[in-house]
Amino acid sequence: MFLFILLFLVGCGTGSDDSSSSENESDGSTKDKWVVGTDATYAPMEYMDSEGNIVGIDIDLVEAIAEELGKEVEFKNIGWEPLFPAVDNGEVDFAVSSITITDDRKESFDFTDPYYVANQVILVSEDSSIKSKDDLVGKRASVQINTTGHQVLKDLMGATSADIVASETMPIAIEELLNGNVEASVGDNSTVNEYIKNNPNVNVKLIEDNSFEKEYYGLMVKKGNSELVEELNKGIQAIKDSGKLKEITGFDVE
Ligand code: ARG
Repeated sequence: MFLFILLFLVGCGTGSDDSSSSENESDGSTKDKWVVGTDATYAPMEYMDSEGNIVGIDIDLVEAIAEELGKEVEFKNIGWEPLFPAVDNGEVDFAVSSITITDDRKESFDFTDPYYVANQVILVSEDSSIKSKDDLVGKRASVQINTTGHQVLKDLMGATSADIVASETMPIAIEELLNGNVEASVGDNSTVNEYIKNNPNVNVKLIEDNSFEKEYYGLMVKKGNSELVEELNKGIQAIKDSGKLKEITGFDVE
């Protein structure tokens, strides 16, 4: 009897979800299933585990939001630069990728409320004399291309400076440092801290500089899809209220 009721309820649930998705698919906001793009090279935020699954803090976060809103979710490892056009052309419904909300990006995309706060840090070899951001001037430094770290270096050294080595991924940017091609590597503390933690035997050290601004991560949505932004914000608020966000990321963000 109980099983029968359960099956009946499940049947109804699926039925009504289906109809809402077909009614309103054009804006993506009421789909039953979200396709979510990421650049899974950014441990511990988004990366591939040894079995080839896309995992990480950002992934857990989106899964918690999806669960809150009764959505299914599928992640696609799109890469960093292609992620922006993928959101724009609807190949994915939104992106989660430690993406800093910036005024520049807000001209072309919409963002949810922030769910994480980060800042840039500098990675140098253990014997480096570099102590601050300003010490980078006149030195070669690597970053992941078109990130906020890249913008920091452009502001510091000039947009077309040959001292900036812009790599496809953050791990490649760090390789440039380990190979001796650059004297420093700049990236988000969320991932650089993890690199240091996982590689205690590599001769590098972390330089923090208080002049780096706080950066807030948001989910990035196609410009104009305010229904999806609202929906995601509801989910973010719910996991903030329940304490789930803090459980996933380790801290609360105002
Ligand atoms: N927070 C930085 C930015 O928005 C870097 C993000 C890079 N994320 C990644 N998954 N590669 O520019």
